[in-house]
Amino acid sequence: MSETETDIKKGLAGVVVDYTAVSKVNPDTNSLLYRGYPVQDLAAQKSFEEVALLLWTGELPSAAELEEFVSYERANRALEDNVKAAVDLLPLECHPMDVARTAVSVLGANHPLAEDPSPEAELEKAKSLLARFPAVLAYDQRRRRNQDVVAPRDDLDYSQNFLWMTNGEEAAPEVVDAFRVSMVLYAEHSFNASTFTARVITSTLSDMHSAVVGAIGALKGSLHGGANEAVMHTFEEIGIRKDETREAAAIRAKKWMEEALAAKKKVMGFGHRVYKNGDSRVPTMKKALDAMIAHFGRDEILGLYDGLEAAMAEAKHIKPNLDYPAGPTYHLMGFDTQMFTPLFIASRISGWTAHIMEQRANNALIRPLSAYNGPDQREL
Ligand code: ACO
Repeated sequence: MSETETDIKKGLAGVVVDYTAVSKVNPDTNSLLYRGYPVQDLAAQKSFEEVALLLWTGELPSAAELEEFVSYERANRALEDNVKAAVDLLPLECHPMDVARTAVSVLGANHPLAEDPSPEAELEKAKSLLARFPAVLAYDQRRRRNQDVVAPRDDLDYSQNFLWMTNGEEAAPEVVDAFRVSMVLYAEHSFNASTFTARVITSTLSDMHSAVVGAIGALKGSLHGGANEAVMHTFEEIGIRKDETREAAAIRAKKWMEEALAAKKKVMGFGHRVYKNGDSRVPTMKKALDAMIAHFGRDEILGLYDGLEAAMAEAKHIKPNLDYPAGPTYHLMGFDTQMFTPLFIASRISGWTAHIMEQRANNALIRPLSAYNGPDQREL
């Protein structure tokens, strides 16, 4: 076969590149399993800390294992001085994803086991990153609002403390729970673009933090994690009017979507490379969004949500992905729109690092081929 006749799998669509025991995505049944457990059951019953341990070790922790990790996580939350200094050097105009990428790089340089690829060192680095990252995000959110840094509190769990460090006040239980659900749902999703990036970097025998930095770069794009931010821009473009009825908001949203589709726009928060009949995580995240809408009394947000979804279904039969309900949920919780994709990082650190450990345990350099379609060999 000549190079030009090669069967190119553009975007690696449909290509199976390796085994994984971390999660199973089944588009036929719209289901997602983390280490065999349905994600909606984990979101209903388990803390994010338990889910992270499940992803890393393959099993849910015993009470003693969980207690040990919870103590570790609470003891390792503080923002390190040189991470804070590095963040302070970055302009306020830069995207918070750039801050996150830089901070993880510094955290890697700080870690004494950075270059140790043993399974014990890798697990320690995964735990360390998960514990330290929320302070980076909270610090960046607050510096953009010209607010003082809020120290972590070791009497609060991961989700409570995250919201505490960001807002400087304790969040209501309903808000904490919706946040926890989002962390569980964003944690892992097989060989998505950022996870695959992390595995490619790991496959060269590079270190864990480098792989996570690369994954953050991949996640930033609006075809991937950046979509939760882009969803909010859509809502903002349509216009969020706090005193509007749900019905009136839905009518405006439908009109916006019809015009966008007529102009052949890609609307962020809809569609998925793997799920063609709906994203398995959306019903659980939508329940969390509904709880936030009820808690904050913001029915007009539901109107915008329903209007866009209905118009997309009618015109193109394309369903929402996880980023669609996650965007307005984070908005209602009070996060700035640019912070939404960094929140995705906070959760996905668990899945990325689980994949990095899996890749390292059974490694082969990932190096595909290309078909050349440039000019034939010519004289210089
Ligand atoms: N808006 C409008 N049309 C869409 C959308 C959308 N969001 N998604 C797919 N389509 C259309 C395409 O235009 C295309 O139509 P055509 O055949 O008439 O040209 C058809 O559906 C197939 O779309 P592809 O982009 O080829 O499908 P692919 O599997 O490559 O894309 C992707 C999946 C990238 C997620 C796409 O649906 C998209 O761009 N969505 C918006 C971005 C987004 O929300 N990303 C988040 C992903 S989930 C996550 O990261 C948690």
